[in-house]
Amino acid sequence: MSRLVVVSNRIAQPDDKQTSAGGLAVGVLGALKNAGGLWFGWSGEVGNAGEPLKTVTRGNITWASFNLSEDDYEQYYSQFSNAVLWPAFHYRLDLVNFQREAWEGYCRVNALLADKLLPLIEPDDILWIHDYHLLPFAAELRKRGCMNRIGFFLHIPFPSPEIFNSLPPHAELLEQLCDYDLLGFQTGSDKQAFLDAVATHTRLDSVADGCWQAWGKSFRAGVYPIGIEPQEIRRQAEGPLPPRMAQIKEELRNINNIFSVERLDYSKGLPERFLAFETLLEKYPEHHGKIRYTQIAPTSRGEVQAYQDIRHQLETEAGRINGKFGQLGWTPLYYLNQHFDRKILMKVFRYAEVGLVTPLRDGMNLVAKEYLAAQDPANPGVLVLSQFAGAAHELTSALLVNPYDRDEVADALHRALKMPLAERISRHSDSMEVLTRNDIDSWQQNFIRDLRQVAQRSAGSIMQKKVVTFPKLA
Ligand code: G6P
Repeated sequence: MSRLVVVSNRIAQPDDKQTSAGGLAVGVLGALKNAGGLWFGWSGEVGNAGEPLKTVTRGNITWASFNLSEDDYEQYYSQFSNAVLWPAFHYRLDLVNFQREAWEGYCRVNALLADKLLPLIEPDDILWIHDYHLLPFAAELRKRGCMNRIGFFLHIPFPSPEIFNSLPPHAELLEQLCDYDLLGFQTGSDKQAFLDAVATHTRLDSVADGCWQAWGKSFRAGVYPIGIEPQEIRRQAEGPLPPRMAQIKEELRNINNIFSVERLDYSKGLPERFLAFETLLEKYPEHHGKIRYTQIAPTSRGEVQAYQDIRHQLETEAGRINGKFGQLGWTPLYYLNQHFDRKILMKVFRYAEVGLVTPLRDGMNLVAKEYLAAQDPANPGVLVLSQFAGAAHELTSALLVNPYDRDEVADALHRALKMPLAERISRHSDSMEVLTRNDIDSWQQNFIRDLRQVAQRSAGSIMQKKVVTFPKLA
């Protein structure tokens, strides 16, 4: 079986215990273990970019990582990836800060990574590239004569053409994406938005089921919703609580807990969520003194202005809401701007009566899935989920809400807090059926199966593509 080469902006360190790794890392490691291969990506360090690749091998997997220079970190990661693509793909054109140098830096780093990777790959390796940092990566490899099968998975939403086409280099990005052999999306709407965007620029032909042609390039497009490991999460959630946590649980035995955790990111809808919680306290005073909403949101991408702004906004709002409703001996909202160990979080999920996951846009949202998997099936909590998270396409038994409508979210919270046991059990078991069917193994196995089925390119096929793509030069 041909070897697998995975490329993602960040790579999980080889000595990270699998139990503390999240969805992507678990999925990628599963795929790498099956086929053996290489995981190539940024070490997370900035500076000393001239150093050779750092490689570590464990069993049949090698990790190869590189540092980014300060300029590359700034232009490729902070600016173009996270201050242009991330906001635009999450429908926040108001937060896009486009600068031509950042776009040039993004292209330069994609080219540099292609140069670094090329000597490491064998002719029949299959390549699986991840996420928005690497949209032009296949195009860079193809320019260098690479004929391997290359697949791409987009973890975040693909926006509608009206939004996507506002990005100054939208046409280049689309044409570059068509150099992948297989493009994977989280939901059918993301895939359709991509195809629609291509069709606004050039003729898009459907050549077979799931196979397309545009700009003289052939590619497949498919839907692969990323999943979790339900059994492993349940096992972690069931284990004993550390002593301090057990004490807190005991202190809170008469309190109903609403719980949320995510990176501190404007796409997660945190200020809107705080306001919905305030509406719950206003509309349903019966909950005063009896509930607690804990929001964990560790800082992320802190150099980007929009992330600094949202942090200040949340601090202010949390203080205001607690000042308004808190009582001696009762603080309604706990906002923790800190990182927590995943294994602990799974245990905390189990004791939360309500999981509140209301992003304004999200590719999938694995926290929603993990919250459900962590529940006790005999006495499960209720998930209140944004209709704009990719997970809402699968988790139709959750209480689905529009995160912009604070009354609707407050009503759903009230309903969740009051939901009878039989309804909780039935909704939970419906969701678990989906989560078990679409778990993290099926995600990676389905993608890799489809990528392996793509015909290997030959020198002739590349020549032919050039003729079609640039007829006047041929
Ligand atoms: C999202 C993206 C990932 C990214 C992660 C953490 O989930 O889809 O590609 O790795 O956020 O973001 P960071 O900028 O810290 O790598």
